[in-house]
Amino acid sequence: MDSQTLMMLSEQVVANTYARYPVVLVRGKGTRVWDLEGEEYLDFVSGLAVCNLGHCHPRVVKTIQEQAEKLIHISNFYYIEPQIQLASLLCKHSFADKVFFCNSGAEANEGALKLARKYAKEKVGKDRYEIITMERSFHGRTLATLTATGQEKFHKGYDPLMPGFRYVPFDDIGAVKHAIGPGTCAVMVEPIQGEGGVNCPSQGYLKALREICDEKKLLLIFDEVQVGMGRTGKLFAYEHEGVEPDVLTLAKSLAGGVPIGALLIKKGVADSFKPGDHASTFGGNPLASAAGVAALTAILEEGMLENCQKMGGYFFAELEKMKNKFPFIKEVRGKGLILGMELKIEGGAIVKEMLKKRILINCTMGNVLRFLPPLIVNQEEVDRVVKVLVEVFKNMKY
Ligand SMILES: Cc1ncc(COP(=O)(O)O)c(C=O)c1O
Repeated sequence: MDSQTLMMLSEQVVANTYARYPVVLVRGKGTRVWDLEGEEYLDFVSGLAVCNLGHCHPRVVKTIQEQAEKLIHISNFYYIEPQIQLASLLCKHSFADKVFFCNSGAEANEGALKLARKYAKEKVGKDRYEIITMERSFHGRTLATLTATGQEKFHKGYDPLMPGFRYVPFDDIGAVKHAIGPGTCAVMVEPIQGEGGVNCPSQGYLKALREICDEKKLLLIFDEVQVGMGRTGKLFAYEHEGVEPDVLTLAKSLAGGVPIGALLIKKGVADSFKPGDHASTFGGNPLASAAGVAALTAILEEGMLENCQKMGGYFFAELEKMKNKFPFIKEVRGKGLILGMELKIEGGAIVKEMLKKRILINCTMGNVLRFLPPLIVNQEEVDRVVKVLVEVFKNMKY
């Protein structure tokens, strides 16, 4: 089938929840993907921060092939070798003592919310269940994580939402202090907000959150679904400020493109989950876990964090330079290879123009161009994106 036929068929048989670009992508390697007609694209979306290693990383592909021949799935009734290996690696390289595996970011956050309530009821006070989250946050699409998400546009049509959530402005420590009440049990925050527009908090914000949570006996939950696994130039974004959460959620790039989610948990908190308290049929299954071990090992052993820091700094500086030429650029922000360019105009048309020029980028919040290239991106590729972006901007009517 050609692209046109496939797209028409998709409209008929696939639920209409995505506004898709008119292209069918069928193959990927490193920073490139190809459509059905064989056209090549430079990918600065990475499946929305999933393909941090680049597409079809050889180490991940080989591991999946080998694991698929051995054992794809088995129940969590039994011990699972690759799951134990992945949990060990995650604990070794983070603050965590224990890991719970699931299949997506929303599911990881759902688990974190459940754990926070259970821990608080057991250890702090039986009426504690409220969770403070941030305006412009994004935590997922299940009913609880949707409620946790501090953006009204995602809530519309789904009420009544879950009780027990309070929103405060991001990067406002006073607002958090003010919102804490006798029923509060946790604060949940993205160290850098991704979907909300690549918003970085001020230096010291996460540390201040840690201090308040300690003082008030609240759990601190970091949602690193988008910024974890090397995206910011450190394995985990919390490392930049040296502030450890009690619970950290991961998904997206954890298994190099295979669906997975995880809760990284400190021991005293993890103990609140006992057999039967929480579960997932697929969570940490042999295939996903083996892919996770391969992906994490590749990030640690192949210089990806160093490249992310170097290329991130270079790309940021190049985007900053564009501000002199184009007055409709409001701000460039981000860390490592999650970069956002906030515009005073809508960004959707720019993404479409870039696609015509065979470059994939993304726009969030309507006016923030978001760049999420694979961590293996090189300077020539960054230069190409900047050059084409300048061309597109020059032709913009605003
Ligand atoms: C910070 C954050 N948390 C949670 C999610 C939800 O992840 P998933 O789509 O895997 O459920 C996302 C997705 O973009 C995210 O960026």
